[in-house]
Amino acid sequence: MFSEKLAIYAKKLHDLAADDRLRHLSPRSGLDFSSNDYLGLAHAPRIKRAVAAAMEAGTPVGAGGSRLLRGNCVEHERLEADAARFFGAESALFFGSGYLANLAVLTTLPLRDDLLVLDALVHASTHEGARGSRAESCLFHHNDPDAADDRILAWRRDGGVGRPWIVVESLYSMDGDIAPLDELIAVAERHDAFVLIDEAHATGVHGPQGRGLAARFEGRADIVVVHTCGKALGAAGALVTAHRVLRETLINRCRPFIFATAPSPLMAVAVSEALAILQDEPEKQQRLAQLVAFAHREIVARFGETWSSSQIIPFIVGDNARAMTLAAELQQRGFDIRGIRPPTVPAGTARLRLSLTLNVDEAAITALLDALAQLAGERRWRSAS
Ligand SMILES: Cc1ncc(COP(=O)(O)O)c(C=O)c1O
Repeated sequence: MFSEKLAIYAKKLHDLAADDRLRHLSPRSGLDFSSNDYLGLAHAPRIKRAVAAAMEAGTPVGAGGSRLLRGNCVEHERLEADAARFFGAESALFFGSGYLANLAVLTTLPLRDDLLVLDALVHASTHEGARGSRAESCLFHHNDPDAADDRILAWRRDGGVGRPWIVVESLYSMDGDIAPLDELIAVAERHDAFVLIDEAHATGVHGPQGRGLAARFEGRADIVVVHTCGKALGAAGALVTAHRVLRETLINRCRPFIFATAPSPLMAVAVSEALAILQDEPEKQQRLAQLVAFAHREIVARFGETWSSSQIIPFIVGDNARAMTLAAELQQRGFDIRGIRPPTVPAGTARLRLSLTLNVDEAAITALLDALAQLAGERRWRSAS
């Protein structure tokens, strides 16, 4: 029996269900076509051994406090030094998650008179950061540098006096498409703007040694980069790479950094080891590139076209319920592939998000695509077709 207090929540859940948007937690099972563990490092023996050795040597499980108090451990500082060197940045700061890092940067660095110009498809954490920021914010049409330019020009015409911040992902999490970083940075230069680049899905996978798609811009005073550690790095957390002055500003002004217990020092050890693996074992990145090329070729062979150029491949269904039914049929056949619905993606674009990782091989990809082609052929899955 619901108490009256709970009725309003029950009604909201009921409304979500009526719109085919109710979510459930389900145990992991089946071949991995949904995780972001792109290089398969979540189970890497090297990372396990590094963490075990650190524990053996006395590294505590919990940091025990904020980084500004007793929570600052040598493992955090070592990771940040390793990361700054690896990414070619002036400095790095470690956060407990990518969500927190985006929130932290956006609620701290942009100032009251600034303008946040967000790509329309940035991650929820970025929208949340913009909502909490002192700066005003607006969206620009996805991957359209001219649209970002127009937004900034209009803001200046209306009397905007601060500095613009162009906020993008280098590789979009739900569409798998890549940002035109050169053009976006040219827009930023014209307007003396900062650029915040979320490399969540590129770190470890793209760029030299997996340093990301923005690797060539690291070290610049006007670029801030978020490298999440819970995806290709197989661990958890996020490294913000930025100019030293911005790192100091975060340490002094960023509430999610100051008023939170530091991430586990064991996680810092895990991430340091993941960065070492990227440097020592380039074959992992190469193997993933091979698998991705294989998958795209096989998709074209079955469907006549492919739907992205990266390890993230969206199969757009359109309708929420149909996307979930298709996902469930594939799950029953042993493939862990998930339906993604609004608000994670725009209304009318519910989809299957195929994620390619080193946890699968060519045979698994072939089996999945055969099953998808069969199911898609049996019924008209796409609303638009
Ligand atoms: C583009 C993007 N940024 C940030 C995040 C948040 O990172 P984390 O999972 O480490 O909190 C995600 C997570 O899915 C993401 O896709």
